[in-house]
Amino acid sequence: MRSERLIKALNEQIKLEFESSYAYIAMEAHFKKNNLDGFANFFHIQAMEERDHAYLMFNYIYSIGGEVELLDISKPNNIFKDEVDVFEQTLAHEQKVTASINNLMDIAMEDKDYSAQAFLQWFIKEQDEEEEVATDLLEKVKMIKSNPSGLFMLDSKLAQRIYTPATME
Ligand code: FEO
Repeated sequence: MRSERLIKALNEQIKLEFESSYAYIAMEAHFKKNNLDGFANFFHIQAMEERDHAYLMFNYIYSIGGEVELLDISKPNNIFKDEVDVFEQTLAHEQKVTASINNLMDIAMEDKDYSAQAFLQWFIKEQDEEEEVATDLLEKVKMIKSNPSGLFMLDSKLAQRIYTPATME
């Protein structure tokens, strides 16, 4: 049995991953409403990946003899000024998730829990990618802010994104 502090932090991380999923569904809805189906597709897949992240944590807790406790998740923001605002919020959200994963790693290191450290390493790398993608898209939407044809081109590109379940293999 791992430290209670670690199990508690893993359960809080599950909540944050579901809140991430919920936040991205709100963004998906925003783009659906604005007929930008490619952007909506991007956030639809993003939301599914966040749910996958939650389940990786969920399964890990049981694999180490802990117990999952599902916590309340908060209502996501659904007011967005424009595309730049959406991706600024996305990046800020991912930075919050990164800080939370880093905190989990700090606990695993203080506990000298090498198994948990190995498990969390996947999430550390995943957060690098998540922040990189959010930063890249933020820069792109800033560039095309007042250029509808640029927006439609990016929308077509994002429509091609395909969901692959997040696994640790
Ligand atoms: Fe699972 Fe985007 O953090």
